[in-house]
Amino acid sequence: MATRTAEKGILSEAKSGERDQLLEMLKKAYWMELETVMSYIANSINPDGVRAQEIVESLQQDVQEELGHAQQFAARIKELYGVVPGSLEFTAEQSYLQPPEHQTDIVHVIKGVIEAETGAIEHYNAIIEATEDSDPVTNDMVIAILRDEEGHRRLFEGFLREYEAEGLA
Ligand SMILES: [Fe+2]
Ligand SMILES: [Fe+2]
Repeated sequence: MATRTAEKGILSEAKSGERDQLLEMLKKAYWMELETVMSYIANSINPDGVRAQEIVESLQQDVQEELGHAQQFAARIKELYGVVPGSLEFTAEQSYLQPPEHQTDIVHVIKGVIEAETGAIEHYNAIIEATEDSDPVTNDMVIAILRDEEGHRRLFEGFLREYEAEGLA
């Protein structure tokens, strides 16, 4: 007897086209998370100065969270009959999170983090929209991840406000 394939939902034969489109979005999300891990490791270690401590500690924690997000996206790619891509397919995009010229330039790091989180928020909203009717599991997963990214952005907006209030940003 042939194995029955799913008749309903995103794993069904009828949804294979939609699944392929979704896989591309999930792969992009996976790369975004991994590049964020790289950028946050560097920016949790490079900064100098007393003022940098809060930022450094916050980014250290975020590294683990973003890595967890990457693993969730990878697992979902597999569940949707995709293959988690190899590192040679990776292209870096976070020009705004490169190390600043001076390692005491914390405003550069804060603004870079806000930019990265904003990019993630935009892409994840697009995935949530695309999966609204077709894939409740991905939809649910990405809503939870979106909440983390909104929390990250809000925290760093608060840091930026403090610098702006003091005329340093
Ligand atoms: Fe993330
Ligand atoms: Fe984040």
